[in-house]
Amino acid sequence: MKLIIAIIQPHRLEEVKEELYKAEINLITVSEVLGHGRQKGVTEFYRGHKETGNLLRKIRLEIAVNDNFTEPTIKAIMKGAKTGSTGDGKIFVLDLKDCVRIRTEERGATAIG
Ligand SMILES: Nc1ncnc2c1ncn2[C@@H]1O[C@H](COP(=O)(O)OP(=O)(O)OP(=O)(O)O)[C@@H](O)[C@H]1O
Ligand SMILES: [Mg+2]
Repeated sequence: MKLIIAIIQPHRLEEVKEELYKAEINLITVSEVLGHGRQKGVTEFYRGHKETGNLLRKIRLEIAVNDNFTEPTIKAIMKGAKTGSTGDGKIFVLDLKDCVRIRTEERGATAIG
């Protein structure tokens, strides 16, 4: 199992969600976060306006998947999030030890999806 954490541009969230649903990835956690990459936030634009300040608004996605869904998840996020500009985001893939569905007490692969 993997935990995929992606930081994307807020205005790409709907496209990313659509691509995930097309790939039958329907379980997702979304947070509003602040961050900057290697440009330190100073040269990025949001909806045509230069953002002031060093930390820019980003969306953080967390998606826990069985191994066979890792590449489809990465591809769906890239397809929805990529504009070709700096600040498009990043995807982190972590090994996931376990998952528990609290209601049923299922564990691991059966609990995840
Ligand atoms: N190494 C990192 N560790 C933690 N968060 C990161 C890291 N790299 C990027 N992020 C997060 O992802 C967001 C988007 O990063 P961004 O796409 O600007 O990366 P980049 O490395 O600067 O690439 P680019 O040159 O394409 O802009 C950042 O605002 C930050 O929140
Ligand atoms: Mg950057």
